[in-house]
Amino acid sequence: MSKLLIKNGYLIDPANQRDGTFDVLIERGKIAAIETAIPANGAKIIDAAGQLVVPGLIDLHTHLRQPGREDKETIETGVQAAARGGFTTVCVMPNTTPPLDERSHVDFIQQESRRIGGICVQPIGAVTKGRQGLELTDFGELFEAGCVALSDDGHPVSDSHLMRRALEYAKVFQRPIIQHAEDRQLAAGGVMHEGLIATTLGLRGMPSEAESVMVARDVALAELTGGWVHFAHLSCAQSVEVVRQAKRRGIRVTCEVTPHHVALTHEAVGEFDTRAKVNPPLRTEQDRTALIEGLRDGTIDCIATDHAPHTDWEKDADFDAAPFGIGGLETALGVCARALIESKHLSWAQLIGKLSVHPAQIAGVSGGTLAKGADADLTLIDPEATWTVDPSRFASKSKHSPFAGWTLHGAVVRVLVRGAEVFPA
Ligand code: DOR
Repeated sequence: MSKLLIKNGYLIDPANQRDGTFDVLIERGKIAAIETAIPANGAKIIDAAGQLVVPGLIDLHTHLRQPGREDKETIETGVQAAARGGFTTVCVMPNTTPPLDERSHVDFIQQESRRIGGICVQPIGAVTKGRQGLELTDFGELFEAGCVALSDDGHPVSDSHLMRRALEYAKVFQRPIIQHAEDRQLAAGGVMHEGLIATTLGLRGMPSEAESVMVARDVALAELTGGWVHFAHLSCAQSVEVVRQAKRRGIRVTCEVTPHHVALTHEAVGEFDTRAKVNPPLRTEQDRTALIEGLRDGTIDCIATDHAPHTDWEKDADFDAAPFGIGGLETALGVCARALIESKHLSWAQLIGKLSVHPAQIAGVSGGTLAKGADADLTLIDPEATWTVDPSRFASKSKHSPFAGWTLHGAVVRVLVRGAEVFPA
């Protein structure tokens, strides 16, 4: 593979506490040197003046609907959307049809993503067979096949005994169980956050405690077992506080928040806008503030998109009938820049920590670093570029977004995976 020299970019590499204007030389898919004024010596030059050069973004929580619902998203369209969004790796959730609950299904994801090329796709296997919540999958088989974690996401693992066993078995492999924390009985079929807006609209609400009681239960089970629980898409102040206390007590717990939960509140539902229907639901300003504080103080380890594509015809249904989910791969960076950097809650280095360094560590995959010798997975960002969200132009098949029409700052200019340019393609 030819040599590439990225010149004059502003490097942000939180894993190595490096921040400044440097050239990056890439050889054979690896970072060969990071210095000032590296001579070209025949390398292809990329001028990155005015751009940020950061470790490629890594999404811990992506739904690509293949196999089973290719009308919503395929691995190919999802991978293209992820590359446009600045991601070099996405970890894909197992709620496909069939679910990723056995080796052959995991093999399919890996083979198909290798065939397509571009960014890396890392599978997450199911905790229970058929995601039915009744019987554990074969963890050894799934981890051996290459799963980076296990989750029944979309559903919680409701049965406490089963969750205990799942944490115990996953501990043997030093991998997390990713919990979709939702007490289904307490959520009671709610379609948005339980509060004033749900009442005004006449919609059934789900209280924040439907999430936080399960977070508290699983913290207790992580303490009991010494296993590692990772909470997906936390949405409320109570959950953040439970995790904060658990971390103080040294319990093995990590967690994520989505861009939509840090940028929006239940007010986005407006007049029954299904684009803002998501599970867990968008909550109050107080919750949003608590999530941001959780990111700032390290309680919340990372930001994950929960990219959950659906067709227009499904989302065009009544609010009660429409599916939960927001497609977020292509807006994640700009939305985070707006909600977290422009409002001065986080620095760029902190944001890259949440979108790259920590997700790489949690998933146990390469990336998240610009160290010499590391895989050359890099994202180049123009932090000043202004663009308007137009879902009709998304690479994703999911053409609706609660951010439609928003003007965002911070655009992905270029994405390299193992030194190969995957965006622009
Ligand atoms: O809103 C959501 N959509 N939340 C989930 O947990 C699952 C996801 C989906 O798969 O559509």
